[in-house]
Amino acid sequence: SLYLSGIVILAYLFGSIPTAVWFGQAFYGVDVREYGSGNAGATNTFRVLGGKAGSVVMFVDILKGWTATNLPYLLDSSVIGNDNASTFVNFQLALGVIAVIGHLFPIFAGFRGGKGVATLFGMVLAIHLYAALMCVSVFIVILLLTHYVSLGSIMAGFTFPFSIAFIFKTSVPSILLYGIAICALILVTHQKNIERLLKGHESKIYLFRKKSS
Ligand code: G3P
Repeated sequence: SLYLSGIVILAYLFGSIPTAVWFGQAFYGVDVREYGSGNAGATNTFRVLGGKAGSVVMFVDILKGWTATNLPYLLDSSVIGNDNASTFVNFQLALGVIAVIGHLFPIFAGFRGGKGVATLFGMVLAIHLYAALMCVSVFIVILLLTHYVSLGSIMAGFTFPFSIAFIFKTSVPSILLYGIAICALILVTHQKNIERLLKGHESKIYLFRKKSS
């Protein structure tokens, strides 16, 4: 229907907002894709422009995923017919993934976007709060221990389906399938990071002190 296609396009457009690119260009005159890892994401914004800029980009990119996933609620939940909760959650999950695709291939930034971690987190946050909190915890622990954001992202990605399969009970089996798909997607977008991690060349992020190497 018109409503369905409209909401799908809206989710893609939300995901497509190239926060890192626009924020860097507007306030620093810099396209972060020309520096650091070349990625249009919160991590590279942190790396290139510092903590404040990185935090703003992270917040907005999370919000994009959260908003897209909650679009059916925000617009009009009655249209989907939430008498079937599982169908509704499936639709939400699909919208979240579409927003992530927008983030990876943004129509507003030449289709060169980011790796989708913050946007995926916004989606998980909208779907399962406790699983999202577990993912954040794993991310923070890995980041503080290793200083590799990419490794934290990958481990947090795996935490989601793991927590859904073994810790939380869910009446919607597709959440687990989406979780597995999220893992695969994160592995694909982090291919270069994985190569660098294996070679010991990945750049480190220090949250609370100046970069020493
Ligand atoms: O969110 C992306 C992060 O996991 C890695 O970013 O810039 O280090 O490739 P980056």
